[in-house]
Amino acid sequence: MSEFVRIVEVGPRDGLQNESKMLTVAQRVELIKRLADCGHKTIEAGAFVSPKWVPQMADTASVLASLPKFAGVNLPVLVPNARGMEDAIAAGAKEVAIFTAASDEFNIKNTNVTIAESYKRFAEVFDLANQHGIKVRGYISTVVGCPYSGDVKAAKVAEVAAKLLQIGCYEISLGDTIGVGTPKSTKKMLKAVLEEVPVEKLALHCHDTYGQAIANIYAGLEMGIRVFDASTAGLGGCPYAKGASGNVATEDVVYMLNCEGFETGLAMPKLIETAHYAASLVGKSPQGKVAHALKV
Ligand code: HMG
Ligand code: MG
Repeated sequence: MSEFVRIVEVGPRDGLQNESKMLTVAQRVELIKRLADCGHKTIEAGAFVSPKWVPQMADTASVLASLPKFAGVNLPVLVPNARGMEDAIAAGAKEVAIFTAASDEFNIKNTNVTIAESYKRFAEVFDLANQHGIKVRGYISTVVGCPYSGDVKAAKVAEVAAKLLQIGCYEISLGDTIGVGTPKSTKKMLKAVLEEVPVEKLALHCHDTYGQAIANIYAGLEMGIRVFDASTAGLGGCPYAKGASGNVATEDVVYMLNCEGFETGLAMPKLIETAHYAASLVGKSPQGKVAHALKV
C-alpha cells in the first residue's frame, strides 16, 4: 500500500491574503467548497488578524458561517493573539494556527512584536484553546532566510520549534517564507529541528520564488516529513515578505507525490479544474506548471 502524505491546503488564507484582488465572501466560500470536493481534509479557511494589516482576510467569520459542514474536513484559521482567538471561537472554529518567525526583524514587520513577545500572546491563545478544546498548529516563518536580515541560523529555527512544541502545538509548519531555500539549506535546517521535534509533528511550507519548492519538498520527504502545505494555483505570497511569490502550487506537489508512489487522497482532475477557477478569481493564470500541462 502507498504511504500517505497529507497536504494542508492554504490557498484560501495564505494565497488570498497576498492577492491584490479582494474576493467576496461568496467567492471565498465557493473556492473552499471546490477544494473540499478535491478531497482536501485540511483547508485553511481564513485569518482573524487585523483587517487594517491584511484587508483580504476581513469577514472570515462570514466565510465560516456560510460554509456547509463538511464531514472529516478541518478548517483551521490563523490567529495572532487573544483577540483573534476570541473571534475565532465566536465564529465556531475548531482549529487555529498561531504564527511567529525565526527572525525578529520579520516577526516585528509581520505582527509588531519580537519572537519572545509573540510567546506571551500564544500563552493567552492557549488559555482559550484549552478552555474550548481547540487544536493549535504553529507556524515558523523565515526558516531559511529573512527578507530583512538575510540568512537564518538553523539553530534558531530549532529553538523556536522546540518552544512551539513545548507550549502545545500539535504540528509545527516550517515556512520558507521567501522561497530562498535549496535542498542543501532545507536539509540543514530540518536536521537541526529534528533534534528537538519528532518528525511526525513537522510540516514543510515552501514558496516557489526561485523555482526550488519541489526540490525542497523532495528533500523534506527524504528526511521523513509527510505533511506539506501548498496553495491551489500557487496563489499568494506574504504581505510582509517583499518579493515572495506564492506558496508552491498544490497540483505541482501532488503530481510529484503521485509519480513518486505516495497517496494524497486528492483527485488530480479536480485539482486542475480548481486551480484554474482559483486563478481566475484573482485575475491570473495558475502559477505552477502542472495546471497548464494537464489542462483539458
Ligand atoms: P498591533 O497594531 O500591534 O495590535 O497589531 P494592537 O494590539 O496594538 O491593536 C491595534 C488595533 O488592532 C486595535 O484596534 C485592536 O483592536 C486591533 P483599534 O483600537 O486601532 O481600532 N486588533 C485586531 N483586530 C482584528 N483582529 C485581531 C486584532 N488584534 C488587534 N486579531 C496584530 C498586532 C497581530 C493584530 C497585527 O500585526 C496583525 O494583524 N498582523 C497580521 C499579519 C498577518 O496576517 N500576516 C500574514 C500571515 S503570516 C504568514 O503569511 C506566514 C505563514 O503563511 C507562513 C510562511 O509563509 O512563512 C504563516
Ligand atoms: Mg506562506
